[in-house]
Amino acid sequence: MIRSVLVAAAILLGVTAVSAQQDIAEQQDKLMKTLARPMYGVLGRTVRGQSAYDQAAIDAALVQLEENVGKIANVFAVNPKEDVFGADYGSSQKIWQNKADFESKIPPVAKAIADAKGKIKDADSLKAAYTTINDRCNDCHETYRVKLK
Ligand code: HEC
Repeated sequence: MIRSVLVAAAILLGVTAVSAQQDIAEQQDKLMKTLARPMYGVLGRTVRGQSAYDQAAIDAALVQLEENVGKIANVFAVNPKEDVFGADYGSSQKIWQNKADFESKIPPVAKAIADAKGKIKDADSLKAAYTTINDRCNDCHETYRVKLK
């Protein structure tokens, strides 16, 4: 009797630990998807001519990007040790082996965004800024993002 209660308690504890880690992984994934919306959904689509050039939308996208890039270090403070179930991308374990290097990839993105603010005036300046910001995002993705499917 005591034994089966202990087993049940152990299983429950295990389930709680797994879902807490799933929560962390989900927050990290959600933050990246929050970056994807202004970056690819607004700036990228405008660069490709899929959306009409809209200065207010572009300026708002830069503000959203700046805000959310500032959250990366905190949101990636803890290793969830698992990927979001069914996600396209996961985190490399290298993040937690080279935390300082991982974090060093954040300020260049923030700088590229800050540099772009107030300077995007037309399709050409948008394209140049988009390419610069995107290259900085990918400087981190190259090493620390893993394609799962
Ligand atoms: C310091 C590192 C770092 C920077 C900078 C960074 N990312 Fe990521 N990104 C990651 C990691 C790690 C993953 C994989 C884990 C995940 O999806 O949570 C990821 C995943 C993603 C994904 C895939 C999400 C999914 O699962 O569908 C998108 C989209 C993305 N990032 C967009 C961006 C954009 C846009 C920028 C720049 C504005 C950016 N990221 C900057 C580390 C970074």
